[in-house]
Amino acid sequence: MVLLDRSKDIFEEASTLMPRGVNTAPRFFKPHPIYSQRAKGAHIWDVDGNDYIDHHLGHSAVILGHQFPKVIDAINRALEVGLSTGVESRLPLDLAKKMHQIIPCAENVSLATSGTEAVTLALHVSRACSKKKKIIKMEGHFHGRHDDMLVSCFAAGGSATKPIPHVDSAGVVAEERRRNVLVVPFNDTEALEKVVKAHKKEVAALIMEPVAFNNGCVLPKEGYLASVREITEDNDVILIFDEIISGFRVRPGGMGEYYNVKPDLATFGKPMANGYSISALVGRKDLFQVLAPGGSAYFGGTFNANQVSVAAAIACLDELSSGTVQEHLSKLTRRLVDGFSRIASKLHIRMTLPALGGQFAFYFTDREVTNFREAKRAGGGEDFFRLQHNLLERGFYFHRSPTYHNGISFSHTEEDIDHLLQALESSLKETMR
Ligand SMILES: Cc1ncc(COP(=O)(O)O)c(C=O)c1O
Repeated sequence: MVLLDRSKDIFEEASTLMPRGVNTAPRFFKPHPIYSQRAKGAHIWDVDGNDYIDHHLGHSAVILGHQFPKVIDAINRALEVGLSTGVESRLPLDLAKKMHQIIPCAENVSLATSGTEAVTLALHVSRACSKKKKIIKMEGHFHGRHDDMLVSCFAAGGSATKPIPHVDSAGVVAEERRRNVLVVPFNDTEALEKVVKAHKKEVAALIMEPVAFNNGCVLPKEGYLASVREITEDNDVILIFDEIISGFRVRPGGMGEYYNVKPDLATFGKPMANGYSISALVGRKDLFQVLAPGGSAYFGGTFNANQVSVAAAIACLDELSSGTVQEHLSKLTRRLVDGFSRIASKLHIRMTLPALGGQFAFYFTDREVTNFREAKRAGGGEDFFRLQHNLLERGFYFHRSPTYHNGISFSHTEEDIDHLLQALESSLKETMR
């Protein structure tokens, strides 16, 4: 049995100062989370000295593996010349040029520090350019902590075909969200078309994850993203792809490149700098004109384009732009999916493991999952918690949320995947007993 005494001690002390001992709500799990000591490659060690193969990977930010040498070297060089001078340097330009080169819709680029900030910027640009107020979002898609985006991320309102906004967080002015946010089901072209047509004079933008990794791994149906593009374009609605998780994983240019659909704006973050805090809004040059200092939509941030994160991002994107990382992720993903399906039939369990670009989820159903409500039903509840616990006991760290976006990094090996498959087989035997 894995001993977690030191984690328990830190948790108890941390809980006296920080709510439930964590700084991001989903990091908490019962009876207490693990606390990390160090991480390298595909491994993370906790303060009790337990060694885990990491499939959480910093909330899906660590795409290359922990302490990836080229990224660490770039950071060290940036540290030597001085962090956050509050004066621009050459580095952000180099990064913007790189993004412009590899992301098809990136005519312009603005750098920020978190996904929430990039999404906030995308919404401000959309509203300022269109002079319209309403935003359409997909049920279950998560876009960070902007007040308008804490709607229908974790719970559903209304019916499956006609959802209504569910305000997910206290502290958000609910009436305003109900007025200005419209919610539609993912993968339902008809429902989207109806809502867009009914509200086109008031709708500034549609924001969505092109692949719904915040519901595990829900893929767009064939042709769906192209239809979304057509409907938004025909009705003068700005299309925002939130690629904070999905970016760079399958193609250097993101899911926009992979599915050959060009959004007007797109947000990137998490894997962009292999775990260092940076994000970007990219998109149409004409829309970017509205941003300050030239335009009237405020844009600023003390830590925007800080040297360390920018240096990490350049080194990371250098690695991600050749396609080698994506090839490795896709090879390991296939190995995992094939291995899992063999295990599921051998054990006669109704489960699937949908995956793309090194991100995967466990669904406790053998049916195809096409949207948030289906994903929620397939999450497994207690079965999933038992599975996560059994895997932790065998040395594999998974986030403790059903339908979470688990990951594989460039540092994982075929042997790591084979060990995971062995652990899954024995864990599932215990879980489903
Ligand atoms: C798709 C998506 N957008 C935006 C965000 C918010 O990013 P951050 O946590 O960096 O603010 C997240 C975070 O998980 C996300 O998954």
